[in-house]
Amino acid sequence: MNIYEKLVECALDSQKMAYTPYSNFKVGASVLTDSDKIYGGCNIENASYTPTVCAERVAIFKAIYNGEKKIKKIAVVGKENFFTYPCGVCRQVIREFCTNDCEIIIIKNKEEYKVIKFSELLPYSFGPEDL
Ligand code: THU
Repeated sequence: MNIYEKLVECALDSQKMAYTPYSNFKVGASVLTDSDKIYGGCNIENASYTPTVCAERVAIFKAIYNGEKKIKKIAVVGKENFFTYPCGVCRQVIREFCTNDCEIIIIKNKEEYKVIKFSELLPYSFGPEDL
């Protein structure tokens, strides 16, 4: 299994853990860190709506909590047979921990995904080096 397949598998497994009683829109994510570890995440909703957290941020925060410093790749899966892209807030959170050549893997289904660069997802971004 290559690294893309591993990230796809982890994102799809993570999606099953989504807590989505309000939207029923289940998202899974997985990140590959600089130390070559993979962390998964799912979206977790809230009765008060705004505290809802996206799958991408759960995966990233798990990685950071575990001592990781940088993200090399991040995969995301939402609606089946549809390309679900990270929301704006998650793009900014990804920005904090990646470089412009970080790969974003957008999963359509178990067999199909596309790979884009972070710079395509959030061009002209603001990050830690800009302060
Ligand atoms: N969601 C994510 O988990 N990631 C995204 O990038 C887009 C949106 C979640 C948040 C909410 O639980 C549900 O999808 C519907 O917006």
